[in-house]
Amino acid sequence: MSATARKTAPLPDDIRARKGGVPLVSLTAYTTPMAQLMDAHCDFVLVGDSVGMVLHGLPSTLGVTLEMMILHGQAVRRGLSRAMMVVDMPFGSYEESPQQAFRNAARVMAETGAGAVKLEGGVTMAETIAFLVRRGIPVMAHVGLTPQSINTLGGYRVQGRGAAGDALMADAQAVAQAGAFAVVLEKVPEALADQITADIIIPTIGIGASAGCDGQILVVDDMLGLFTAFRAKFVKRYADLGEQAEAAVAAYAAEVRARSFPAAEHVFGDTAPERTI
Ligand code: KIV
Repeated sequence: MSATARKTAPLPDDIRARKGGVPLVSLTAYTTPMAQLMDAHCDFVLVGDSVGMVLHGLPSTLGVTLEMMILHGQAVRRGLSRAMMVVDMPFGSYEESPQQAFRNAARVMAETGAGAVKLEGGVTMAETIAFLVRRGIPVMAHVGLTPQSINTLGGYRVQGRGAAGDALMADAQAVAQAGAFAVVLEKVPEALADQITADIIIPTIGIGASAGCDGQILVVDDMLGLFTAFRAKFVKRYADLGEQAEAAVAAYAAEVRARSFPAAEHVFGDTAPERTI
């Protein structure tokens, strides 16, 4: 069913059932108004830990806390009625043990109303994914470029090129077998993304991967041109809202300095009737 025709949010099983069908549409969101804008158009919305870089000015996602994810998760939840919400587990909140992951993921689910959590990692996280899924927590996996591991990956480069492709395929297979209902493939060669999509039983959600994936995701501030600190090759800008916003702020500043704002229509007389708000 298309996102616009739907009256209620899909469940993780509905997302899983979209394997090989009409591509799944997804964006990140961090606030209520942005979630409201995308609710009718997205199958699921990710409260990504990219929030740390995009909204909080952090240099990477490593400084994002569970409390930040819960706060933004609650805000996004209030803006959604038709799209499923997935919340990222931040760095340090799940890697230590399946028990730690369960404790923190259960908190995220209970306090935000998320339909699922997402965590980064392939073979190494398979046991944790199985542990969570068996205990009622739907998991979206994330392999390829996993930004929480930039210090061991050595930066934000393409993953799975050449001989490294086999390990990436093994990661995708491991998370699928562990019970993840979908997997994000970030920054992997197109041919490898297509091969993984053909070989695993769960939907692949591409970002810097391939149009052949079962769905796509982008960071909303990137595709709207609001986040301009850097621009990845895989980001298509659908708008330049950052430029528009700066032009608007500059116009406001000029009008305030020229005393042309507020104008007659923005101020109140002392007789009724009039707009009071
Ligand atoms: O945090 C995020 O925004 C993500 C997407 C890039 C998939 O994980």
